[in-house]
Amino acid sequence: MAGRPPVSERRLVAVLPLLLLLAVTAAAGERRGLARVEGPPARHRHAYAAMMYMGTPRDYEFYVAVRVMMRSLTRVRADADRVLIASSDVPRDWVRAMTEEDGMRVVIVENLRNPYESNLGGINRRFKLTLNKLYAWTLVDYERVVMIDSDNIFLQNTDELFQCGQFCAVFINPCYFHTGLFVLQPSMDVFKGMLHDLEVGRENSDGADQGFLVGCYPDLLDKPMFHPPENGTKLNGTYRLPLGYQMDASYYYLKLHWHVPCGPNSVITFPSAPWFKPWYWWSWPILPLGLSWHKQRWDDLGYAAEMPVILMEVLMYIVIIAVTRLARPGMTKLCYNRRPEKQNALVQWLIKMAVIVAMVAAYSIPFFVIPRTVHPIMGWSIYLFGALALSVVVINAFLLPPLDVLTTWLAIVGMLFVMAFPWYHDGIVRVLAIFGYAFCSAPFLWASLVRMMDSVQTMLERDPLFPRLGEPAQEIEFSKLY
Ligand SMILES: *[C@@H]1O[C@H](CO)[C@@H](O)[C@H](O)[C@H]1NC(C)=O
Ligand SMILES: *[C@@H]1O[C@H](CO)[C@@H](O)[C@H](O)[C@H]1NC(C)=O
Repeated sequence: MAGRPPVSERRLVAVLPLLLLLAVTAAAGERRGLARVEGPPARHRHAYAAMMYMGTPRDYEFYVAVRVMMRSLTRVRADADRVLIASSDVPRDWVRAMTEEDGMRVVIVENLRNPYESNLGGINRRFKLTLNKLYAWTLVDYERVVMIDSDNIFLQNTDELFQCGQFCAVFINPCYFHTGLFVLQPSMDVFKGMLHDLEVGRENSDGADQGFLVGCYPDLLDKPMFHPPENGTKLNGTYRLPLGYQMDASYYYLKLHWHVPCGPNSVITFPSAPWFKPWYWWSWPILPLGLSWHKQRWDDLGYAAEMPVILMEVLMYIVIIAVTRLARPGMTKLCYNRRPEKQNALVQWLIKMAVIVAMVAAYSIPFFVIPRTVHPIMGWSIYLFGALALSVVVINAFLLPPLDVLTTWLAIVGMLFVMAFPWYHDGIVRVLAIFGYAFCSAPFLWASLVRMMDSVQTMLERDPLFPRLGEPAQEIEFSKLY
């Protein structure tokens, strides 16, 4: 497809030859906005499109998520092209995997400058480039496009959406429609109009794509509900879509099953809680739907990318356990030095702090080193194994009673079972069960902490085992090593 991306005016002035080229191509055709297309040619009249851009710490996760979602469309037998609107800095090998392995068409575009950038505070900076979604209107090879975010799970075929009009979206809250899935009729005129709105900085409530599009279609709430005509004809105009096309995962957690009796139950979306997107291994069993996402990933894509890191971590923990067993006497000496000196309250306090820091490290470090997108069963197994290995180090270093150090470990295992238990009647009962479990296990955790501190105290007071003054720095260093 011929054409060039829209370039900011400053660059136009600076780069004269480019200006000339742009003038020529603009005169040659209407298809400005598309840079380059990779992958197979257009084969269908309709397309499911998603976008990808770089520059957030979560780029890789969204890459995996887009691939799983696009492949899930094959599972529901979607009869349409799959198009990815990718910014030009998406890595070459990602583009290659998505075109060759997943059969996507990748349209490479220049990022649209977001004039509302300053409205986006803090964490919302990741939405800076979501205006690239507007490029969906440039996909004029297609009669209709369904634009989707990567945090959707398709339960059923939704091809009837291509019968909807020029713009259709779902209200998942009473006032503003959601732009995680919408139907549009591509049109360069509409696209140019939107670019013009960006230039003049038209009002945008949230600084991202949703606020912008709500501004473009402010009266959608008053529009009729979309019902696909039986005879397959396409509608004109704008419509609201039934909620079943964007079922908010939060509803599921209330009932623990889908129950939208009117209309389809087709697509699940995960708009809230950015750290509990379904692809994170820790999100299951905290939020039960993660397993559905990972089942699709398991079937369609697999986990080859994460396996080397996983194997390396397992090996590392085995080595840590082995080394701890061999080095046990030396480690203890390091922590409780055999020097009969007058004991000092500060040193005692520091050693106790070191025990607590070491415990916290033993239970948190394994969490952060696991690749975020592995299967939850894999993730939790490695987490528990890692926490066990590091706990063994703490037990041996400070000569702590093993059962008390491992009480936390057992409590975590218990909590996972309580959360994953599949026969809760609804989400409220589940939450009550989780609270009940936490309430009952808290005294045991407290008791184990008290016993650990008692044991440290006993060690410090036992005659030959006195800490040498001036050594606590070394102890803390030692604990940090693990
Ligand atoms: C298809 O059905 C719609 C109403 O559902 C009707 O308005 C339209 O004329 C029909 N088109 C054809 C080609 O039958
Ligand atoms: C919608 O508009 C197009 C072009 O304007 C026209 O060809 C088509 O028949 C219209 N469809 C309906 C259902 O009115």
